[in-house]
Amino acid sequence: MIIQKAEFVKSAPDISRCPPETIPEYAFIGRSNVGKSSLINMLVNCKNMAKTSVTPGKTRLFNYFLINDTWYLVDLPGLGYAKISKNKREEWKESIGKFLLNRKTLLCSFLLVDCRHEVQAVDEEIMEWMAEKGLPFVIVFTKTDKLPKTSLNATIQSYKNKLLETWEELPKIFLTSSEKKQGREELLSFIEETNLILSSYKK
Ligand code: GTP
Ligand code: MG
Repeated sequence: MIIQKAEFVKSAPDISRCPPETIPEYAFIGRSNVGKSSLINMLVNCKNMAKTSVTPGKTRLFNYFLINDTWYLVDLPGLGYAKISKNKREEWKESIGKFLLNRKTLLCSFLLVDCRHEVQAVDEEIMEWMAEKGLPFVIVFTKTDKLPKTSLNATIQSYKNKLLETWEELPKIFLTSSEKKQGREELLSFIEETNLILSSYKK
């Protein structure tokens, strides 16, 4: 897919203030600092469209980006940002959960995980919750440029093995680096195919 146009639309503090549910959208979820905003910028080929930061917790709102005038990418607040109080964390989880469950035009969520880390409790929790609720999602490994190829393959394999201890089947998996622009074509093709499936349903 060619990105002809990408524009910031709005930042919504909660689901009630998100844009009307008229076109497909894809949400980026994952722990703070995992690289959600960077990946959005990499996909749309624009360095600063989504705000990135070395300090975790940069994205605190639901940020909507309209792509090619036909679909949205949504940058969500980071899960489990450690420096805020437990209550605040729960509140985030609640607001993200409510969004994922109720947003009718959300076709698929991308759960981003840092390829250097083993399965994190909050990621596992949200994956199990999405599976239980029947919400489509894929796993996107980020920052693959930070590991040499052999250890990258080994850590990803052990990540999958850990999930397979409790899961019968794994969701689709993508390997990405915003730094090296790895995984861009694969993710955009996935979105394109998913958009097409929806439009064939509408006919
Ligand atoms: P929050 O908004 O706080 O939830 O964080 P986020 O998930 O949006 O992360 P963000 O995109 O702001 O990136 C966090 C840090 O990781 C920044 O310093 C980025 O430059 C860095 N980063 C993101 N993606 C990559 C990548 O693919 N490779 C490398 N080397 N660094 C990355
Ligand atoms: Mg961010």
